[in-house]
Amino acid sequence: MYVVIGANGFLGSYVIKNILEMTDEKILAVRKSSPGKDTDRVKWVFGDISNPLFVEQLNKEHLDTSDSNKIVYLAAYHHPDLVEKNPKLAWDINVTALSRFINSVDKMEKFFYPSSDSVYGESEHGYRFKETDPLNPVNRYGHHKCAAESIVTEYGYNIVRYPFLIAPSLAPGKQHFYDTIVHTLGAGRQIEMFKDSMRSALDFDTAARLLIQLMENGPVPQKLNVCGDEDLSKYDIGIRIADKLRVSRDLVKPISVDNSAGIFEVKRASSTLMDNSLLKQTLGLTEIRLKL
Ligand SMILES: NC(=O)c1ccc[n+]([C@@H]2O[C@H](COP(=O)([O-])OP(=O)(O)OC[C@H]3O[C@@H](n4cnc5c(N)ncnc54)[C@H](OP(=O)(O)O)[C@@H]3O)[C@@H](O)[C@H]2O)c1
Repeated sequence: MYVVIGANGFLGSYVIKNILEMTDEKILAVRKSSPGKDTDRVKWVFGDISNPLFVEQLNKEHLDTSDSNKIVYLAAYHHPDLVEKNPKLAWDINVTALSRFINSVDKMEKFFYPSSDSVYGESEHGYRFKETDPLNPVNRYGHHKCAAESIVTEYGYNIVRYPFLIAPSLAPGKQHFYDTIVHTLGAGRQIEMFKDSMRSALDFDTAARLLIQLMENGPVPQKLNVCGDEDLSKYDIGIRIADKLRVSRDLVKPISVDNSAGIFEVKRASSTLMDNSLLKQTLGLTEIRLKL
């Protein structure tokens, strides 16, 4: 059985879609508040993963007793500006709750945790970070991801490092940046997008599919960059969306990260690129591209 913690988020919705499409397994889907609608393969449970009583209840009442639980742990407090504003609350969810979960739930066949390119910090001269490179985050969110990675890998489980992810939201009531771009361009309004901030960006569907492929595989490397082949700015992505919508490219206005005041409060690396050759080698792939 798959257990998806934080299942009603952007990535969680695509993870559920891909488990259903790629496997015959049942899913225990965990969300923070309000129950979801059960189906024959998806059972929803709600509760706060930072509450030890809820984790105990999950462990005793809901997890498969046959040790065959495959856990995807997506719950996080992850907006860099909010992490900086509420560091203790963020640490509680990102680090303490994760550590308690991993140390108290013992019926796990697999445990995969999504980390982020933010652990690497700034890419110099277009360098693509490899899994073995030293970590050098530029903000507190990145430091929390480093701490979380250590907990997961020291316990013997797996992390995947994702880049900036984008796609239409499948999560009811949650609008992703992709949806904002589509609404803005669709209404004929201009949108500003960074031209000089590069990421190995990927869409949520491909990111989730690669994760499930890894989980369905035999042993895989403990740390993997799961990202696309291309170095893309948000402006590049905006142009692709404009083309897809068949609206004028002029509606996408290139701006520099030097002008990010008022958009971001906390420092971000201007560019973070990742090398995906270990992932390709592991899964026997030749190409991984952003699909919009
Ligand atoms: N999106 C990206 O570009 C990206 C890139 C790299 C890594 N990641 C990582 O991927 C993971 C998922 O990200 P996402 O984009 O899917 O974010 P998201 O939409 O905010 O999903 C996070 C989910 O965790 C749930 N959650 C938060 N605190 C919880 C708690 N205490 N108990 C139970 N559930 C809780 C949230 O529920 P509520 O919505 O009800 O609060 C939400 O469903 C995060 O670890 C993030 O750092 C994302």
